[in-house]
This record gives sequence, structure tokens and C-alpha cells, in this order.
Amino acid sequence: MASLESCNFVVFGGTGDLALRKLLPALYYLERDGHLPAATKIVGAARQPLDDEAYSAIVAEGLVANIPKQHYEQSVWSTFKQRLAYIELDSALPDTFDRIQASLGDSFEQQRTIYYLSTPPDLYGQISTTLGSKGLVRENSRIVLEKPIGTDLCSSVAISQTVATVFDQENIFRIDHYLGKETVQNLLALRFANTLFEPLWNSEHISNIQITVSETVGVERRWDYYNDSGALRDMVQNHMLQLLCLVAMGVPVSIDSESLRVEKLKVLRSMKVLTPEEVRANAVRAQYTPGVVNGTAEPGYREENDARPSDTETFVAIRAEIHNWRWRGVPFYLRTGKRLPARFSEVVIEFKDVPHSIFPASTHLVANKLVIRLQPEEGIQLFKMNKVPGLSAEVKLVPVSLNLILPDKLTETRPPDAHERLIYDVMRGDATLFVHQQEIEAAWKWCDAIRLGWAEQRVPLHTYTAGSWGPQAAYQLTAVDGNSWHEHD
Ligand code: BG6
Repeated sequence: MASLESCNFVVFGGTGDLALRKLLPALYYLERDGHLPAATKIVGAARQPLDDEAYSAIVAEGLVANIPKQHYEQSVWSTFKQRLAYIELDSALPDTFDRIQASLGDSFEQQRTIYYLSTPPDLYGQISTTLGSKGLVRENSRIVLEKPIGTDLCSSVAISQTVATVFDQENIFRIDHYLGKETVQNLLALRFANTLFEPLWNSEHISNIQITVSETVGVERRWDYYNDSGALRDMVQNHMLQLLCLVAMGVPVSIDSESLRVEKLKVLRSMKVLTPEEVRANAVRAQYTPGVVNGTAEPGYREENDARPSDTETFVAIRAEIHNWRWRGVPFYLRTGKRLPARFSEVVIEFKDVPHSIFPASTHLVANKLVIRLQPEEGIQLFKMNKVPGLSAEVKLVPVSLNLILPDKLTETRPPDAHERLIYDVMRGDATLFVHQQEIEAAWKWCDAIRLGWAEQRVPLHTYTAGSWGPQAAYQLTAVDGNSWHEHD
């Protein structure tokens, strides 16, 4: 692994939502914890006319809004502020790119530049090309691309080819911030640093697997981006499929990026691509209408933007299949949505029923479940059958859950935020937690078939009331297999 060299950051989209909510707070934390080399500069680039002082004020506001009070230290901010600069840059105007070198001065020659593209993906190609033609890309320059890369397979390939004409593959870092989450990485530890589960991790013992990423937030300020994207492109193509890969992949040769990629790709390429007819029965889409979430009345999706008509899905539930030896016959249910009743991400492994019950016919045996909670707090629950204590002649059983609680020493320190971890990895050139273009393409191929099926088959866009668990059709998706979504209190 390369050591930490001095570098500069240029953040395209430097005044945008992602930069202010995630990237600059992540860089602030790296500063606070002593991980930013002394000479590192951070240049925000965007179209707004701002000077350095005005930009610092916007960044400070973003930090205060997004960092818990106890972590915001005035002395850290003073040092951090010294690193910040702003340039007015329009990706359609190549001459404005000259301001990058002007802003970085001598340090442009002296140290590596990391270009962080926090812009809509349709600008990735153009920005890379201009960086190249302006002589702003050196052998050691790196580029970071935020998901989603493209809007379908074709656009993703085009972006990738253009970026690759300017940057070497090893210098292209494609971010899926779910891979930077500590708890997501812990999935690898759960599966591959323990012997307990792996022998059971297959179709012989597992009946179905559910992956849910549930959000209470709506779309609000991101309406324009989201309306072109929808839940399938925004969440499933990247975060959900990456989670699925980590849950379903075989044992990698080692924990390096190449070995992980090989196993993740096998999963993605084994996923059954749905025909348009199959999409109708296996991929539900829906949009929220006004309702109440956590006691607050919320508008419907369309009302969030002046009641503009839209058929963008804010909820998706999909029944997926992985056609390989390990998973043949095991449905994978994926579900994600905005304005659901609770915010959490979890993986539920439901095991098979006992082959034969020795208990009285009146005793209903509930299959074991392993529930892996990824956020907001990490946790593992194991559902098992338990005897009800007592002298009664007939053995009585009830399902109970065992909650595995992590020891304090693992929870008392602040876990690094996903972007903090990933930016740090870009600085040291470690690509383990980044996504390879081949994975992205395999994921698009699978998602594109769903979008095609929705359009061709005129699959209805269901509605669901904000604050509910989605449309009835999502329940039918599991019910056809005799299964049901794991219930929450
Ligand atoms: C982003 C999506 O990638 O992930 C957002 O664009 C979504 O729509 C977000 O809200 C969820 O991330 P997290 O870390 O809050 O689960």
C-alpha cells in the first residue's frame, strides 16, 4: 500500500449538496485527526461567482450543520480554512480550467492533484477531456467519480472510455459510499473471519435473503437530480447491488481489491437478467403520496416540487435470483424507498424450516433468521425457537431474538464517516473499497433490463402513503414464494 504523500484536492461541484454535506465535513475530520498532509490545499470549483472568503463562509455553514457540535473545534477550523480556495469554473468553458493551476500555484507542480467530481455524471467525460487538453493531468493525478456513473450501460461505457483516455485506470476511483461504511466492511469480517456462518451460507440451508435500505427523508432540494434518476438508478444499481455482492459472494482469495472484484463480478454476472415479462412479476415500482412520517405531515413526491407531474419511482422492491451453485433457488428480495416509516439498512438471512418437527402439531416452528443491521446503529439479531419455562406436560415453544451487542470498546470511538474513509484511501492509493468499471457495467446491464421491462410492459407505478412500508404489490413479491418481509416494531 502506498504511503501518504502530499496532495491537493480540486472539488468540482464544490458548492453542491454532496460537497457541503459530505465531502468537506469528511476533509475536516481528516484535518482534525491529523490525516491531511501539511501542504494540502482544497480548491472548490463551481459556476457561482464567489471569492475565497465567501466560499469559506459557505463551507463553515456546511460544517456546522453537518458535524455534531462536540466535534467542531475552532482551532481545527482555523487550520482547515487556510487550505481552502475557490475558483469560478464552468465545465463548458475550457478557459476557466486555467484557474486551477493559478489557484494551486507552485504546489500544482510539487504535489499530486486529486480531482473530485461531485457533479452530474453527464459532465464526467467533458471535465476529464478538458483537464487533459489543458495539461492539468500528470502521471500521478487521480480522479474520483461519484455514483451513479452514467444513466445506463451505454452512457456508463462512454464515460469510462473518455475518462480512460486521460487518466490511467489505477488513478480512477469510482465511489460507492456504502463500501466506505464501517458496518458494510464488517459484513466481510462476519462472513470471512468467522467459521460459524460460512458452512450454512448457501441454498441448502438458506430459504431467502432480504436487503432493505429504508429512508425517512424525501427528495426535497435534490428533486431535479432525483427525478431523472429514480430509486433504481439512485440506490439499486449501486448501493443495493454492492451490498448484495458482499452478502452473496464466494470466499475471496484475499482482502485486496482485485480478489474482491473477482468475487463480486461473479455474483453480478450470475444475476438472472429479467425478461420484460418477468419484470412485471418481479420488480415493483412506486411513488409516495402525502402522509405522516415520524409524526410529521409530509407532502407527496409531486407536491415537493410544485405538483409537477412525474412517473419517477421513489420505492422499488425486486425479487432477484443468482444463478450459480451456491444460490440456485434462493430468492433475494431487494427493497428501498424514501419516506418510509424508519431509517435503517439491514440484511436478513432467513434459514430453512426444520426438515421434520418432533414437537406437537400445534407448535408452530418459526424458521431461524439472522438480521444484520448496518445503520443507523450496528447490530446482529438471531431469531431462534425457545422453550417456554414451566411444568406443563406439553412442550411450549416461542420464537425469541438474541441481540448481539458489541463491546463498548468497539462503539465508544466515533466510526469514520464513509466519505472520510474513502477520501483517505484515495490519498494513499488503496482501491480496495472502490468499484471497478466491470462491476458498474454488469450492474447497469441488470438494471437496464428492469427499466426496459417497466416501459415495455407498462408496469404500473404504484403509490404508497408517506410513512407506510410501500405498496401492497411489494408484499405480494415475497408472498408468491411463501415468504414475507421481516417485520419491524
Ligand atoms: C445516496 C443517494 O447515494 O445515498 C441518496 O443518492 C440517498 O438518495 C443516500 O439518500 C443514502 O445514503 P446513506 O448513507 O444516508 O444511507
